[in-house]
Amino acid sequence: MLRWRLWRLFWYVALLLSVLLIAMLCYTPSFHCLTQEPLENPRHRPVVVLIWLWPFNKTFELDLCSSLFNIHDCILTADRDFTDKADAVLIHHRDIAWDKSNLPQGPRPPHQKWIWMNFESPSNTVQIPGLDNLFNVSLSYRTDADISVPYGALVQAEDIEDFVPSKKDKLVCWIVSNYRLHHKRMQYYKELQKYVKVHVYGDLFERHVSKQEYKDIISSCKFYLSFENSVHKDYITEKLFNALDLGAVPIVFGPARKNYERFVPGDSFIHVDDFPSIRALAKHLFLLHHREALYLRYFRWRRHFHVMTTFFPGENACRACEYLQQNRQYQVLKDLYQWFWDTSEGLDLPLSFY
Ligand SMILES: *[C@@H]1O[C@H](CO)[C@@H](O)[C@H](O)[C@H]1NC(C)=O
Ligand SMILES: *[C@@H]1O[C@H](CO)[C@@H](O)[C@H](O)[C@H]1NC(C)=O
Repeated sequence: MLRWRLWRLFWYVALLLSVLLIAMLCYTPSFHCLTQEPLENPRHRPVVVLIWLWPFNKTFELDLCSSLFNIHDCILTADRDFTDKADAVLIHHRDIAWDKSNLPQGPRPPHQKWIWMNFESPSNTVQIPGLDNLFNVSLSYRTDADISVPYGALVQAEDIEDFVPSKKDKLVCWIVSNYRLHHKRMQYYKELQKYVKVHVYGDLFERHVSKQEYKDIISSCKFYLSFENSVHKDYITEKLFNALDLGAVPIVFGPARKNYERFVPGDSFIHVDDFPSIRALAKHLFLLHHREALYLRYFRWRRHFHVMTTFFPGENACRACEYLQQNRQYQVLKDLYQWFWDTSEGLDLPLSFY
């Protein structure tokens, strides 16, 4: 009788121990217990991002996240048969119709996130009604976006030989396609033109500038006007990064110097606000023109960094995918207007010297 009881006790203990063991394994991240759906593990399947409309109606290579940006397990597709299966739908603000009729219709799968993508500045982005509480994540150049992708970046490089700028036959250049008299940058340009010859190119001047001409022009100038079309926090575009890359010293007009210095070293550019007047700026340019050693100081950063320009929109889509792999929580973009079009900062900076 006693032996029988002991035997039963033994089985109870054994059962208890095995339950405990299974429970422990379930809580250990490296094991998967039976009740856990493999789908819930982000590593188990690629993230599918549906490109709903081609940004600016231009197609791009979809098979690039892995090869170009080292971001794996991403499937970018433009095939709308994936509307119900995609983890995310990427929607470029520019291409949304006023009545949203060209957005996905029908119920949204519960896990699916809609990504609001916009790389224009608030001044150049129309406020389409009905966008609050529609999207889940923001993808923008803004550093406070959910997915923040700047127009370019300087990345650490191995020590590089001293940079020798290519031969220059012009002092100041500007390539401008969006030439609007009301843009504040026009006032700076016109004022500067009084003191220095500015070589201007673009649709309204000579003619359309091809990609190769664009590079040749910028690299043959000592200074390049990296003038943004509007002044907004973080709105620092390829105009800056291309000049840095091609070896012209950028003269920037845009947000405050401090904002630029979040992206590039302070000694890599000249800010129009660095001088009490445009005349003083012009004087400084002539000084640098005649004192080569001073001019070359603007290239010292090149010993430590090289320029990466963002490959829009393919890279942006890959970065979105990477974000989704790491952020699986539910989220809603509640106050898109208040956030993006917030005018409390920097919209209309007064001209300091008029
Ligand atoms: C987009 O491009 C395609 C092909 O180039 C063209 O047929 C279509 O009309 C364009 N759509 C818009 C909205 O511009
Ligand atoms: C995405 O946003 C919508 C609209 O606000 C919301 O209903 C949905 O739950 C969100 N989905 C995710 C996966 O965050």
